Amino acid sequence: MRIDIITVLPELLKSPFEASILKRAIEKDLVEVHLHNLRDYTTGNYKQVDDYQFGGGAGMVMMIEPIDKCISQLKSEREYDEVIYMTPDGKTLNQGMANEISMKKNIIVLCGHYKGVDQRVRDMFVTREISIGDYVLSGGELAAAILCDAVIRLLPGVLNDETSALTDTFQDNLLAPPVYTRPAEYKGMEVPKILLSGNFPKIEKWREQQALERTQERRPDLLEK
Ligand code: ADE
Repeated sequence: MRIDIITVLPELLKSPFEASILKRAIEKDLVEVHLHNLRDYTTGNYKQVDDYQFGGGAGMVMMIEPIDKCISQLKSEREYDEVIYMTPDGKTLNQGMANEISMKKNIIVLCGHYKGVDQRVRDMFVTREISIGDYVLSGGELAAAILCDAVIRLLPGVLNDETSALTDTFQDNLLAPPVYTRPAEYKGMEVPKILLSGNFPKIEKWREQQALERTQERRPDLLEK
């Protein structure tokens, strides 16, 4: 998979890809992530990427021309399955969407700033608009990093234990059951006996039951889906 991220703040997006699982995925060539500074696609000395909005009102709007230049350049080099725009008025990201996107070959992720992008960018180029939740960030970069993390960890070979993404919370609309590690007793608090029993069918049943109870208690909305 190849991800091209278009941003006015590439430095904000460097570190998530320089540590841990994402770094390893890149080193193992399981994914390529390329950052594109929108200012490199501007004309004129001021490297202007935004302007006042027509009709008046507070806040600047990202202009179409640099975005067009950047996307057109990328599209002349290869085909893209999606152009994703990170925006608080997009569809809220969930595990299903992350699964879907993880099957794409090449995607562009566009990070918004200020009041967002000129509507014509959305009409012309964008195939999918994604929000990471009902709150407003100062830009789409952190949202893009979250999307990339959720997607990249699903790519084959990225996680060591291939099955571990399958047992994630949300993967089957259930929250994950509680987990324990050594010691079996800590300051009087004991690990549930069943987990030490070695009876794996029974342990599996217990985990399913715990997952269901947790979901019922914390996220009953997931069970209605
Ligand atoms: N940009 C600003 N806020 C955002 C959000 N909640 N999701 C995605 N992109 C954003």
